[in-house]
Amino acid sequence: MADSVNAKGSNVDGDGAIKIAAIGDLHAQEDAQTSYRDLFGEVSREADVLVLAGDLTNLGKPKEAERLAEDLRACSIPVVGVLGNHDYESGFVEEVTATLRQAGVHLLDGQATELMDVGFVGVKGFVGGFGARMLSSFGEPAIKAMVAESVSEAMRLENAMRQVRAKRTLVVLHYAPILETVLGEPPEIFPFLGSSRLGETIDRFKVSAVVHGHAHRGTYEGCTPGGAKVYNVAMHVAKPTGRPYALLEV
Ligand SMILES: [Fe+2]
Ligand SMILES: [Fe+2]
Repeated sequence: MADSVNAKGSNVDGDGAIKIAAIGDLHAQEDAQTSYRDLFGEVSREADVLVLAGDLTNLGKPKEAERLAEDLRACSIPVVGVLGNHDYESGFVEEVTATLRQAGVHLLDGQATELMDVGFVGVKGFVGGFGARMLSSFGEPAIKAMVAESVSEAMRLENAMRQVRAKRTLVVLHYAPILETVLGEPPEIFPFLGSSRLGETIDRFKVSAVVHGHAHRGTYEGCTPGGAKVYNVAMHVAKPTGRPYALLEV
């Protein structure tokens, strides 16, 4: 049977690529003048799936999540996302999660979901640094707890990857899995922008692409040591689309 092709030219039920719009760090605010309604309407015309790479709200307030949920009514395509560190700030992460899930967002936190024959794997990730200079589990209990959290997020990513049955996989993170896509940020904060442990986990699997946010002043494109394409889709990062979102074919 021939694969059907939708109005965006995407092949949504065969082996062909689907179009994914990806954006991170919306930082929705409860009283901001900024509305994302027009942006969500635009991506609905451009892509088959919208991916949100964390920091969905500015301070993790329930009202901010409600505001974003309201704007998401303008989005007519499926939405997949992860939370970011800002979504934890006010201690209402359960409320924020519930509001966004009620709005239809497939909010992933160590799980995988399949849409249009593509497996979406999502985990927030954590800090820890990159390569040989990654923080190691040594010294004070507080440092060991920090490293344990970083290792735990990588293990949760691994468990989610093992759930995927689709041939194509998009990994959705908030924190960066490689150094390359945080370049442009001050070097002093590199260790707080992500962890190579995430990249090492990704390289144990075959993935089509990885998206992340968090590094607002980072670099759009990079790849893991194993060759997986990585895109920093924070809305502030310049992209080939010339728009705040990236368009990827997966
Ligand atoms: Fe952010
Ligand atoms: Fe962040």
